[in-house]
Amino acid sequence: MRKRKNIITVAIDSPAAAGAGTQAKLISKFYNLYYLDTGKIYRYLGKLKLDNKKKFNYDFVKKKISCLKLTQLKNKSLISNDVAISASLIAKDNRIRKIVHKFQQKCAYNPPYKFKGSVLDGRDIITVQVKDAMFKFYITASLKVRAKRRFNEYQNLNKKITYNEVLKSLRNRDKLDKNRKYGPLKKTKDSILINTTKLSKKACFKMIKAIMDKKLNN
Ligand code: C5P
Repeated sequence: MRKRKNIITVAIDSPAAAGAGTQAKLISKFYNLYYLDTGKIYRYLGKLKLDNKKKFNYDFVKKKISCLKLTQLKNKSLISNDVAISASLIAKDNRIRKIVHKFQQKCAYNPPYKFKGSVLDGRDIITVQVKDAMFKFYITASLKVRAKRRFNEYQNLNKKITYNEVLKSLRNRDKLDKNRKYGPLKKTKDSILINTTKLSKKACFKMIKAIMDKKLNN
């Protein structure tokens, strides 16, 4: 694969609802980087599976990924508990992961020229997708705080789900994502740990910015 030279690459791994997406968006805006929320791709496939149980197979997935546009990932229907669970189950399948990888790596290494680089967040970004990223952050937070944040997000979208259901679902998804055979979520030694349990969005970004500026300005 062709790789653009001298670009900034930021890789973020995190369990669900730890604040990685929020930070990735702030990073992308501030440093003019192309942003890809890789979880949304698995959610997109998870939703396709829920809606097309009979048609869903590897060829179907390949076809859908080959014409995937980023705007499709912005669809609000992807933000639901059922879709998240379906995504997590699909994400265990290595053949599906491989189809998704190509799309992700193109975004990471060949972002459109108007961007100075890329920022990707997900579960296997540091461990598999962008192993040589210039910046590697592992963002986490306590399960309770994550559940509260996700619950609030669902409430804002008028989703009918209780806090306890969200907590249980996140706990199950953590288990699935950390214990699967392919691309499990884990922190690598060379990634910087950021715990957002008691950090505001602003304080967290300040920390990340300080780390990035130190390296970029050297
Ligand atoms: O981040 P988000 O909660 O939207 O991700 C949905 C699911 O997609 C995760 O629970 C995980 O199983 C899967 N995923 C993955 N690898 C990534 C990003 C997400 O397996 N890089």
